[in-house]
Amino acid sequence: MALIEPTDLLPGIRQILFNRPEKLNALSTPLMREFEAALDDAAADPDVRVVVLRGAGGRAFVAGADIAEYQGNKRAEFIAYQLNSRRVFDKLERIGKPMICAVDGFALGGGFEIALCCDILILSESAQLGLPEGRLGLCPGGGGTQRLLRAVGRHAASDLLLAGWRMSAERALALGIAAEVVPADGMDEAILRRARACLKIAPLAAAEMKRLLREGQDAGIETAKSLEQEVLFRLYSTADGQEGIDAFLEKRDPRFRME
Ligand code: COA
Repeated sequence: MALIEPTDLLPGIRQILFNRPEKLNALSTPLMREFEAALDDAAADPDVRVVVLRGAGGRAFVAGADIAEYQGNKRAEFIAYQLNSRRVFDKLERIGKPMICAVDGFALGGGFEIALCCDILILSESAQLGLPEGRLGLCPGGGGTQRLLRAVGRHAASDLLLAGWRMSAERALALGIAAEVVPADGMDEAILRRARACLKIAPLAAAEMKRLLREGQDAGIETAKSLEQEVLFRLYSTADGQEGIDAFLEKRDPRFRME
């Protein structure tokens, strides 16, 4: 059975399902390989406009790296796993399409690191987010400390890292990580509502705005504002930019063609 199941929920909306529920979707090496292939496919397919990541089984999104693999690993294998995770998570963050992460239950360790690479997080009321690697005598290795720091600041990040505290859905909402918290049985509908909204954003504009947020975060503000205007001026000159303006004034839906 596939460890990763890609399906199209609706035209333009690709879901990538982590499908190892008996191990709370822990990120084994074969699962990571399938995950990367599914990401590559979604990134390359022009018909895919928005991607949803979700975990099977209802108990977890992803409960982190496969700790059983850690036990048997040689140091070189451990390092290779970590370098690979970092590379795949960086790739995920750079996909120029809106990435929605839907978290039912646990998103721990690498699972939370994946969520932090996504753009819009929808959590079920039961969601618990954490980076508990310190309990294993380790620390996150896929960018988790740094992405969490930038997302919520040092003190909120310290609570997860140094107390091993799991963040509730309510707290994630208060800290601005979660876009929405929904009852478990409202998740399917919430995903589609957000994904359909993403489909209304011109794809070139979405890709550029993702890059602006990512690159702007670590740039000085004047540099970042200049980057923003460069992007806007370029988008204005695209066929889609003109189509969006025309469609608004003609009171019709735009037809974006990624040109
Ligand atoms: N790696 C490997 N296996 C994992 C796993 C992980 N990260 N997380 C859960 N599992 C496995 C369990 O070993 C168990 O397998 P088993 O039934 O063969 O014994 C199964 O998934 C169910 O998990 P279990 O621990 O029995 O569920 P629980 O409800 O008691 O606890 C958690 C849930 C998430 C709190 C607990 O599984 C946990 O702490 N997982 C590890 C989280 C972590 O440290 N992640 C970072 C890794 S670097």
